[in-house]
Amino acid sequence: RSNVRCQVDGASTIHNTSELADKNWDDIGFGLVPTDYMYVAKSPKDGVFTEGELQRFGPIQLSPSAGILNYGQGLFEGLKAYRKVDGSVVLFRPEENAWRMRMGAERMCMPSPTVEHFVHAVKQTVLANKRWVPPPGKGSLYIRPLLMGSGAVLGLAPAPEYTFLIFVSPVGNYFKEGLAPINLIVENEFHRAIPGGTGGVKTIGNYAPVLKAQSIAKAKGYSDVLYLDSIHKKYLEEVSSCNVFVVKGKVISTPAIKGTILPGITRKSIIEVAQSEGFQVEERLVAVDELLDADEVFCTGTAVVVSPVGSITYLGRRLEYNNGVGAVSQQLYSALTGLQMGLSEDKLGWTVGV
Ligand code: COI
Repeated sequence: RSNVRCQVDGASTIHNTSELADKNWDDIGFGLVPTDYMYVAKSPKDGVFTEGELQRFGPIQLSPSAGILNYGQGLFEGLKAYRKVDGSVVLFRPEENAWRMRMGAERMCMPSPTVEHFVHAVKQTVLANKRWVPPPGKGSLYIRPLLMGSGAVLGLAPAPEYTFLIFVSPVGNYFKEGLAPINLIVENEFHRAIPGGTGGVKTIGNYAPVLKAQSIAKAKGYSDVLYLDSIHKKYLEEVSSCNVFVVKGKVISTPAIKGTILPGITRKSIIEVAQSEGFQVEERLVAVDELLDADEVFCTGTAVVVSPVGSITYLGRRLEYNNGVGAVSQQLYSALTGLQMGLSEDKLGWTVGV
């Protein structure tokens, strides 16, 4: 039995983290469920993050002049913890998130926690909230690390102080369609990223600008938007919250990482899984016209896992895929989630116990 003690306003609270939280685990989507604890660490500008502490999950205090609020100096990450059938809890490739946060921090002029600090902090946060890790097969615990300029600035400059914070929430399927195929529309007016911009790092500023196109698409009944490159307007980039793959026979193509596309950890994992399942994977420029004769299209991401695409609407024409049930995406979904949930042997050492 593992217990977590946390000092809150002078009172000590103990949770028996080996028990499940009282929740209807058959009914979780992708919305915030407040949990017990969050992790908070601080660093001065150009300084080293000191070991943080677990605090009760709740509001944080920020100066109205904080760098994150005024100039968007911030990054986030997303990873998941799974409860295996033997009750143990594992993380999926947490070092990859730590490295990606370090890359993004460099682009955003922020100090970042070391890989060891990041992984240790994630483990502590998950252990403290262990009762919120859904039962096997009922979802996962989504882990959201944030790195932000929390110190006060007025002129445009890097903030003088930074906060590394981790909170968690149990989640189920990302799209309201559940595991059913999603319907996308190719966006011709708005772009997600530009060469030389920040599309290739997970800065918070990449996400609010896609809300407009996404809400227009949703109002028309689509699940999300598929972006094209902003220069030629003819190559696929990604969906608002996930990477995209196009299947033709035994060849699976996905847009190459060149600074405008987020280097997804699920993307990277699916490339390796697909290769080991005998597919040829090409990372290259993928023209939007290739959608016309694709056998299948699917999306990948931590939140969306592997989502089959049922249709893509492009210049008013609706392209439908494989009656919406993609055999390849099903195969890859099963292979990946089998590994993540500990149902198949983890030969690559991708899962890490907490
Ligand atoms: C994730 O998949 O973890 C993301 O960060 C996407 C987010 C929009 C939910």
